[in-house]
Amino acid sequence: MAAALRADFSQIPVIAIDGPAASGKGTVAQRVAAVLGFHYLDSGSLYRLVGYSALMHGTAWSDEAVLGKLAATLPAEFRGTDILLSGEVVTELIRSEACSNAASRVAAVPSVRAALLNWQRKCRLPPGLVTDGRDMGSVVFPDAALKIFLTASTEARAERRYKQLKEKGINANLLILLRDLAERDTRDASRSLAPLHQCPEAHLLDTTEMAVVDAVDQVIDWFRRLVPCNK
Ligand code: CDP
Repeated sequence: MAAALRADFSQIPVIAIDGPAASGKGTVAQRVAAVLGFHYLDSGSLYRLVGYSALMHGTAWSDEAVLGKLAATLPAEFRGTDILLSGEVVTELIRSEACSNAASRVAAVPSVRAALLNWQRKCRLPPGLVTDGRDMGSVVFPDAALKIFLTASTEARAERRYKQLKEKGINANLLILLRDLAERDTRDASRSLAPLHQCPEAHLLDTTEMAVVDAVDQVIDWFRRLVPCNK
C-alpha cells in the first residue's frame, strides 16, 4: 500500500478521513484526535448547518445565490462538543435524517462549497488536525500527511445508523435508512464538484467487520509510521 506521506512537516499535520455516509469516520476521527491531542473538524456538520438553515428558511435547492449566502454568513459556533446556530444548540437536531438529506443537497451547490472552504482551512491549527468528510484529502487539505478512505458495506452502515437512532429513542425503519443512504452515496459520488471518491494515495480502511477500537489503532499506527515522533 502506498504511504500517503507528502508532508513538508514544517506544516501542521492533517489526517484526512473521507468516506461514505454512516461509515463511522466521525467516531474514528474524534478518537484519533483525542489520542494524538490534535484538533478535530467534522466538516459534515457545516453542510448539515447549511442544510438545516435552508430548511428553516424554506430555500429551494436550486437557489444557488441564497444557499451560498446562507453558507457565507452562517452564524455557527463550535463550543466543545456543542454546535450552536444563532446561539441555539443544534448538535442533535442537525443529525436528523432530514438534515442528512438536506446537507447532501446543499453540498452539491458550488457557492456553498466555496463559502465553507476557508472556514475548514482555518481549523488547521497546531499541533495538528484530524478531519472527516468527503473531500478532505482531495480538495480541502490535498497536502494532508495521511489520507484515509474509511468505508463499510451499505448494510453495515444502515444497521449502525439504525442502532444509533434507536439508542437515541428515535423511531427508524431499516429499509428506509438503507434506501436513503444509498441515494445519498450516489448523490455525493456523482456530483461534479468535490465528489466522494478514494484518492489514489489514500489508505483504504474497510470497517465492515472491524471494531472502532481496531480502526482507531490502525489509523494511529499508519500515522506513527509517517511521523515517528508522535508517540
Ligand atoms: O455522518 P454522515 O457521514 O452521514 O454525514 P456527514 O459527514 O455529516 O455529511 C453530511 C453530508 O454533507 C454528506 O452526505 C455530504 O453530502 C456532505 N458533505 C460533503 O459534501 N463534504 C464534506 N466534506 C462533508 C460532508
